Amino acid sequence: MPRIKAINHIAVVVDDMEKSLAFWRDALGIEVHELHDVPVEKSQVAFLPLAGSEVELVRPTSEDSGIAKYLAKRGPGMHHICLEVDDISAMLARLKSMGIRLINEEPRTTADGRKYAFVHPESTSGVLVELVQI
Ligand code: CO
Repeated sequence: MPRIKAINHIAVVVDDMEKSLAFWRDALGIEVHELHDVPVEKSQVAFLPLAGSEVELVRPTSEDSGIAKYLAKRGPGMHHICLEVDDISAMLARLKSMGIRLINEEPRTTADGRKYAFVHPESTSGVLVELVQI
């Protein structure tokens, strides 16, 4: 059976990256490890690593992205929790077989080779859940 290993990151959707960094980076003092655009997700992301996990700040860079629609509807705030799994394909198959609603039925791959997929909040007590295999 596929196994969940850890909380990989917690993501916050933001409308103004500098304003958000004024809290997360400057006030809390968490170092920004990466700040870059993710064209395929039409967003800009900042990663602020902590011991064993990180905070991810996500800002839409296009009006027609899923993240922009989320921001327009609900405003800035908690966006998703990401769990690291040892076998994402096996976990997606397992969830699907149990009737869990998936946003991505097949994993997507990041530029650095991580596989990820999202589970619909309808099946998770209202929290968007990302699964990642590193
Ligand atoms: Co994420």
